[in-house]
Amino acid sequence: MVYSHNILLVLALSLALLHLSHTQDQEPGNNPDDYVNAHSCIRKVLELPPLTWDAELAKVAQAYADKRKDCQMVHSDRCGENMASGPLLNGSYAVQMWVDQRREYDYDANKCKEKMCGGYTQVVWKESQRVGCGRSQCDDGSSWMVVCNYDPPGNIVGQKPY
Ligand SMILES: *[C@@H]1O[C@H](CO)[C@@H](O)[C@H](O)[C@H]1NC(C)=O
Repeated sequence: MVYSHNILLVLALSLALLHLSHTQDQEPGNNPDDYVNAHSCIRKVLELPPLTWDAELAKVAQAYADKRKDCQMVHSDRCGENMASGPLLNGSYAVQMWVDQRREYDYDANKCKEKMCGGYTQVVWKESQRVGCGRSQCDDGSSWMVVCNYDPPGNIVGQKPY
């Protein structure tokens, strides 16, 4: 009797762990701290308040990353959403790609120069306080889709990020 209870306990624990490992991407470069830290440097430089991790936003981001296993850069209808995809892409590097769009952003004119810069303006959006991200492997087997959601959402048309 005791034995079978233990087996049930072990089974329940493994199921719980399995569930955890499925809902949270634990690979290096994809943990909440990695995502938050990747935003911290540029936000410090610009004297913007830091972002904090939000588990609910992360859930939404993960769900959309899972839906975009075709790796198409198509946004959901949600505001305050950054996306990146690429071979072997990890979370910290995805955020770094958005930060690197800085060179495409013309602050005085508040617009992008030649290429996209919306990832950057969301990263440095002053009013955004929380971030949550998710990552999913695409159907091609080598690429990954990274999605971050921000709250309050940034990139409000007609407003500057800071
Ligand atoms: C994330 O990806 C970048 C670019 O491929 C790589 O340089 C970096 O080492 C990766 N980070 C981790 C923690 O794996």
